[in-house]
Amino acid sequence: MKRSVHTARFDIVLRCRALAVACLFLMPPPHLRAQEPPTPQWRPALHFSPAEHWVNDPNGPFLLDGTYHLFYQYNPAGRVWGPMSWGHAISTDLLHWQEQDIALPATQREDIFSGTVVYDSQNRSGLGSASAPPLLAFHTSVFHGNPAHPDDTQAQSLSYSLDRGAHWQAYDRNPILTLQPDSRQFRDPSIIWYPQGQCWIMTTVVADAQLVKLYRSTDLLHWSFLSDFQPSGYRKPGMLWEMPLLIPLSLDGNPHETRWAMIVSVNPWSIAGGSGVQYFIGRFDGTRFTPDTLPPEGSDPSAYHWLDHGADQYAAIRFANTGSGAPLLIGWMSNWDYADTLPTSPWRGQMTLPVQLALKTVDGQPVLIQTPTATYEDLVHRQGVSAFSDRQLGPGQTWHAPLGGDVLDIHLTLRRGDAPRAGIVVRQAPDSRTGTVISYDFTSGNLTLDRSHSGQVGFSPRFSLAHVAHLSAPGGVVSLHLVVDRNSVELFANGGVLRMTDLVFPPAGSNGVSLFSDGGHTQFTGLRISAPAR
Ligand code: FRU
Repeated sequence: MKRSVHTARFDIVLRCRALAVACLFLMPPPHLRAQEPPTPQWRPALHFSPAEHWVNDPNGPFLLDGTYHLFYQYNPAGRVWGPMSWGHAISTDLLHWQEQDIALPATQREDIFSGTVVYDSQNRSGLGSASAPPLLAFHTSVFHGNPAHPDDTQAQSLSYSLDRGAHWQAYDRNPILTLQPDSRQFRDPSIIWYPQGQCWIMTTVVADAQLVKLYRSTDLLHWSFLSDFQPSGYRKPGMLWEMPLLIPLSLDGNPHETRWAMIVSVNPWSIAGGSGVQYFIGRFDGTRFTPDTLPPEGSDPSAYHWLDHGADQYAAIRFANTGSGAPLLIGWMSNWDYADTLPTSPWRGQMTLPVQLALKTVDGQPVLIQTPTATYEDLVHRQGVSAFSDRQLGPGQTWHAPLGGDVLDIHLTLRRGDAPRAGIVVRQAPDSRTGTVISYDFTSGNLTLDRSHSGQVGFSPRFSLAHVAHLSAPGGVVSLHLVVDRNSVELFANGGVLRMTDLVFPPAGSNGVSLFSDGGHTQFTGLRISAPAR
């Protein structure tokens, strides 16, 4: 049963963690370890993945002095979830990352779960100085053998850096926030500056209660409770809420019309199965977040807002300290349903492409719009392009693009003809036996990303095969933007109104791209393919 997957993961791993931590220190050097054959054909070119070992949630990403920092849930001892540390990588373009030393290592007495980093530029915490403002990493501590906290309970702690993220030390009064009584489910602090109140706001969850808790602070050290957010709506037994984020956005670009997005990762029971990210749009008054509208109780999951309709986006988090531009978001490109069976080696886990967020009215309601970052678009525009502006395909016709590859950026526009369905195949094998199919059904308005014949799919029965979402086609036109990497397909439809992120594991050499029209004619009114090299 789905509900047990995530909780069982914690229980089993926590029980075995003493052993796992011991292994970390007793482990033979890498060259003496037996490993599965490496899979360079699936090593992402445009997405962060660690050189080796397990990764889940992105943690505490921020921008400082032109360098993006990314931390992440990392098991330095293997390719399964284990003693949780914060790994660390840096980048200047959000596309190419350099791994750094582990920032916050797990110890025998503590696992370091997810959280955020705050740049305390005014040194309000007093942990740095005016000339060396501190960076504060807020994370969840999971205690083991700590006389002050029952085993496996969770509380919020902080570590700080006085050298711009190179070294970190634990605050000596940790934890800074606990629940009474101690809880095993109190985690994932996320913090934003709230200028109207001249304070920071923290969101955390009590995961198994599907509850977000809000706190405020003026010094980042002392936190007072504000309110709980626990709306009626889409809830299921065993569903966990994790990684809550509160983000202000201008509606339709109007700076006088602010709305707030409350983004929550849910696992399991997400829209595409297993884990995924839900969001609510509403108002925040400095104390309480109130959603503008909620679908009636018992509505279908598709009545709610989802950040992604594919299966492989979870634990999305915002980059801190990026200034007044569009918020930047990055997620874990995987799913708790099958994350520990993915066939990559010597690493397992990677991040989604970072995106910029906007809020626009679509079909009468505010919707998050997600588009790749300016740095991504710059890279794409520096590359050679294959394009056409108009092409009609008749019933059953296929057109093979002259430019293919395993790392591609593709823009495609389709206009309704008399075909009920049309689309594109990427990562297509030369004999066409495998490929990932993205199709639009003009009759039902359903957009489908079908990975059932994308290559290796049998490593887990939970690796769901086709993802479907409703998309309107104003004037009968649909536009698709695809980011194809060596082991993933990310789809941004109609300018980022709808997003689908899916892992795929194609055979090497499956580099074809083709268009098709089923049962009638379709007008392909634009195609642009480029191959953003590494
Ligand atoms: C989300 C999550 C978080 C937790 C972390 C542990 O994927 O379960 O709630 O902090 O992963 O690795």
